[in-house]
Amino acid sequence: MPPDADARAPRGGIAPAGAGEDDDRLLFPGTRLHVVTGKGGTGKTTTAAALAVALSRGGRRVLLCEVEDRQGIARLFGVPPLPYEERSVAATADGGEVLALAIEPRAALLEYLATFYKLGRAGRALDRVGAVDFATTVAPGVRDVLLTGKVYEAVRRRGRGRGTEREHTYDAVVLDAPPTGRIGRFLNVNSEVSGIARMGPIAGQADSVMRVLRSPHTRVHLVTLLEEMPVQETLDGARELAAAGLPVGAVVVDQIRGDTMPLDLLDGALSGAVPASAVRDGLVEARLVRGSAPGTALVDGLLAEAREHDERLALQDAQHAVLEAAGRPLVELPQLPGGVDHRGLEVLADRLTEQGLA
Ligand SMILES: Nc1ncnc2c1ncn2[C@@H]1O[C@H](COP(=O)(O)OP(=O)(O)OP(=O)(O)O)[C@@H](O)[C@H]1O
Ligand SMILES: [Mg+2]
Repeated sequence: MPPDADARAPRGGIAPAGAGEDDDRLLFPGTRLHVVTGKGGTGKTTTAAALAVALSRGGRRVLLCEVEDRQGIARLFGVPPLPYEERSVAATADGGEVLALAIEPRAALLEYLATFYKLGRAGRALDRVGAVDFATTVAPGVRDVLLTGKVYEAVRRRGRGRGTEREHTYDAVVLDAPPTGRIGRFLNVNSEVSGIARMGPIAGQADSVMRVLRSPHTRVHLVTLLEEMPVQETLDGARELAAAGLPVGAVVVDQIRGDTMPLDLLDGALSGAVPASAVRDGLVEARLVRGSAPGTALVDGLLAEAREHDERLALQDAQHAVLEAAGRPLVELPQLPGGVDHRGLEVLADRLTEQGLA
């Protein structure tokens, strides 16, 4: 976590967002840090990556960070494991670029000691005697301060690699964050630290990080599936974040299953009004089975699947209604058949743009 060195920067550390042409279209104009959380396995990494791709379009430069030491971003973009170093993972035809960074507490602390206390070699000596491990794994809260501090540094960094001195290095930063169960403590830890260490550089730094996290430049998005547990966790998480003064963004509903069957046919299948013989004839007609009539097991299996599919859709609808009633902006992503590859990320990025998240 490099120093809060630019004392001339305005309080809060980043320039005010100018009114742009996109303001009417965007759900959250002026956002420079998008934090993506959600229940485990709901699609945080996928959503964060698709959002980074969407934000990079139009010649923009976006940093996509992960902090959980999982290398999920590298896997998704099909690149080798990310080091503690910003690496290009995707480029758009119009000059946009997504860079990715796996933020790791040990490297972040060494960087912090080197810049803040000018402890280059001394920092490495501390590392050898185990002090760095101690600080990053044992000292409560220090780990998270280092991780969010690095994100903060990237959000407000200026000049490097850009034409003019004053321009931000990144137009936006997207953080693939810890899950909802830990996000409040993760983002709020800086306020605890600045509370404990009332004086000195650490308190100043932690205060600055908190100011950016609580500013309108930051939005915390919650990813969910249309299932009871993730939806409940999303609503609880949104309340917890808001209570901590953190700006809640959109609820991103991922992996929505589509209606693949005409409704009258589905109703018929459910009520038993579609006779097995009709399914059998249909399969033959559509040349999905060869030769004579398909077996009873196949037909019964298909009817059972239709029923299951319908039950899932009904569950989806019910959970969608729960989310709508909560009144937060919803952004919806389809379940892509066959999972998410490069092309899939582009499709999801399109959806995020259409719905105003990017
Ligand atoms: N829209 C989608 N369509 C199809 N598959 C998806 C979609 N979104 C996510 N997935 C798949 O769901 C799985 C979980 O997604 P992802 O890894 O993004 O979740 P996560 O919240 O980051 O998980 P974790 O909590 O383990 O970090 C992955 O296999 C991913 O490919
Ligand atoms: Mg993940």
